[in-house]
Amino acid sequence: MDVFEAIDTRFSCRSFSQKPVEGNVVRALIEGAARAASGGNLQPWRVYALAGQPLAELKRQVAAAIAGKDPREDGACEYTVYPGELWDPYKSRREAHGVQLYAALGIPREDKTGRLAQYKRNFEFFGAPVGLFIAIDRRMGPGQWADLGSYLHTLMYLARARGLDTCPQQSWARVHGTVRAFLQMPPELILYCGVALGHNDPGQAVNHIRSPRAPVEEFCTFLGFDGAQTKEKGGATTAQNR
Ligand SMILES: Cc1cc2nc3c(=O)[nH]c(=O)nc-3n(C[C@H](O)[C@H](O)[C@H](O)COP(=O)(O)O)c2cc1C
Repeated sequence: MDVFEAIDTRFSCRSFSQKPVEGNVVRALIEGAARAASGGNLQPWRVYALAGQPLAELKRQVAAAIAGKDPREDGACEYTVYPGELWDPYKSRREAHGVQLYAALGIPREDKTGRLAQYKRNFEFFGAPVGLFIAIDRRMGPGQWADLGSYLHTLMYLARARGLDTCPQQSWARVHGTVRAFLQMPPELILYCGVALGHNDPGQAVNHIRSPRAPVEEFCTFLGFDGAQTKEKGGATTAQNR
């Protein structure tokens, strides 16, 4: 699998099979992703990897903590996941994502209970056999937070190279207190996200979503190029074109 295929076949997997992932593979991904570039080579990521009994126990503790509650409202994030009020085109994109996701799950818009139950599946890592957490020292700034994104994505593409699927999950930041206590995270660390890791369950419609992307003209200004306005012949396609 080349890098284009790894990027093209990555998607946010929201239903995993029970098939386990070997510890040495998990370690290789976590170690390999640290080849990601970071400003000043600070490598500001801190990772926790859980499987088996510790993962089951954490999920049990989080389930107890959110029972009868809506973590989307009750969960106090330690950082701003989205600006309070989104604006277009971001607002529309987020809404379209919700429509696409809940349609695939067969959960109607007005089914608030169904939506909440689905949201809470985040805290089961969508059934993945491995759950990762990525944290950063709270004294770090936007530059280093961007580096976390580099780490996260390098990890997800390496996972594809091993035939594995992932789901990055900021939702875990809403239950950071329980996660922090369980992992005994030092107080200077702030939980950025979780990452579900395992094998996609292809029988689930939710895993067949291919999220759209804005055309390149919408987000890139080309200056001084010949032919940059036309697609490369036989070059990278995107998942939504398949
Ligand atoms: C940092 C980050 C956090 C995310 N958090 C969640 C999450 O908590 N739950 C979830 O179901 N998806 C989450 N996603 C997945 C996004 O919804 C998804 O990446 C986006 O809709 C594009 O779809 P794709 O990943 O399938 O290409 C997150 C993605 C990123 C990059």
